Amino acid sequence: SAQEAGQVLPPQPASLKIVNRQITGYVGFANLPKQWHRKSVRRGFNLNVLCVGRTGLGKTTLINSLFNENFSDTGVRSGETPDGNDQSLDEDTLGDKNSQVGGAVSMRNTVKIETQSKTIEENGVKLKLTLIDAAGFGDAIDNTDSWKPVLSEINSRFDHYLDQENRINRTKIEDNRVHVCLYFIEPTGHYLKPLDLEFCSQVHDKCNLIPVISKSDILSDEEIELFKSRISNQLREHGVTLFRPPVYKMDDNETIQTSKTLYEKMPYAVVGSNSFVKDPNNPELMVRGREYPWGIIEVENSNHSDFNLLRDLLIKQYLEELRERTAHELYENYRSKKLISLGIKQDNSVFKEFDPNTRQEEEKRLHEAKLAKLESEMKTVFQQKVTEKEKKLQKSETELFARHKEMKDKLTKQLKALEEKKHQLELSLANPSTSSPVPQKKKGFLR
Ligand code: GTP
Repeated sequence: SAQEAGQVLPPQPASLKIVNRQITGYVGFANLPKQWHRKSVRRGFNLNVLCVGRTGLGKTTLINSLFNENFSDTGVRSGETPDGNDQSLDEDTLGDKNSQVGGAVSMRNTVKIETQSKTIEENGVKLKLTLIDAAGFGDAIDNTDSWKPVLSEINSRFDHYLDQENRINRTKIEDNRVHVCLYFIEPTGHYLKPLDLEFCSQVHDKCNLIPVISKSDILSDEEIELFKSRISNQLREHGVTLFRPPVYKMDDNETIQTSKTLYEKMPYAVVGSNSFVKDPNNPELMVRGREYPWGIIEVENSNHSDFNLLRDLLIKQYLEELRERTAHELYENYRSKKLISLGIKQDNSVFKEFDPNTRQEEEKRLHEAKLAKLESEMKTVFQQKVTEKEKKLQKSETELFARHKEMKDKLTKQLKALEEKKHQLELSLANPSTSSPVPQKKKGFLR
């Protein structure tokens, strides 16, 4: 060939034609999926699920039912060490620390982010599942800003990933990004509330949003249908996009149909349970379900709820798609917006050339932005401390004044009494016959 002969090849034309060829004989790359499979199993998978909804809507129960696990109601709060020492100073994220004692309804926003992780295994495949719970969401009297701490949690997880990518050693990047957000809708059968719409509008372009109607066993089938269509209309009117299972060219009709059904059935009307009941069709078997005087609701029975659809989408069919969309679409959007906001220009050409100067500049700006953030946080803390100290000083000053006044009054009284005595004595000295004998000095008189 020309190359072998040491000749320089002319540049390839722009409209290079790629021909797909069927090779005869076995080369070996048909084995690639198997290699990929082995590698994936060895590495394991992870899924970070954000659960948002009012307290008691059955979030933990649903997660336990989905993953056959036993998560408890309280996890580790963001900015808090597992032993409970609060390290975060971000008031917005932590909300009001003194409120919500004894289940009292708080006036202010009280959302606290709690996380729990577990590694679960099925047929040798390991999945690290992290449950992120926005505890207290929508529970205050004024819930106007309830969505803010949740959004800032999603963003800070993106930021953390971005920081890791910019480190010198990038071999072990931990993916803490939110892969899916399950939004729990109260089973009212009416319409979505303003808070539901506000939340969905705020987060839909930051995470894969999947709304669920929780505790749907309290609604009849007709009520569920009507509620679902109202919810879908409201979300559409507010421009909210939900996670849509993707369809590829090579997919067969069945896969295409499944993907369509899974999307159309949203929001899923689900039922969860932490207990097991006797299977009505086979009393020897125990199934996850809820027992009522009028019968049994089986969690995994497709005639009773949409639980199986949610599990198919979340775990069985589209877990990897949820992760992939998070990484390639949602995170990429966030990343480029963030870099642009820092003044770093994006190169849109497909083949980006590595420019060490640009890279250095990019890292410098990121570092400066981090420093600025840190500085502003430190300033806030400093300001808080100064205000606290000033308040304390003011208090002790007032107390000192009060004590001073009290002492002064006491002394004035004593002075008056002494003057009175002096006057009496002078009178008795001037007129000894009429006066009574001089009183003896009382012990402790001047005290
Ligand atoms: P917090 O963690 O406190 O925010 O609550 P949660 O949203 O995690 O709710 P949790 O799972 O603790 O469930 C609250 C109560 O609702 C429990 O008594 C559950 O048994 C019950 N519950 C959960 N899921 C369902 C359901 O699908 N239907 C009915 N009827 N009750 C449910």
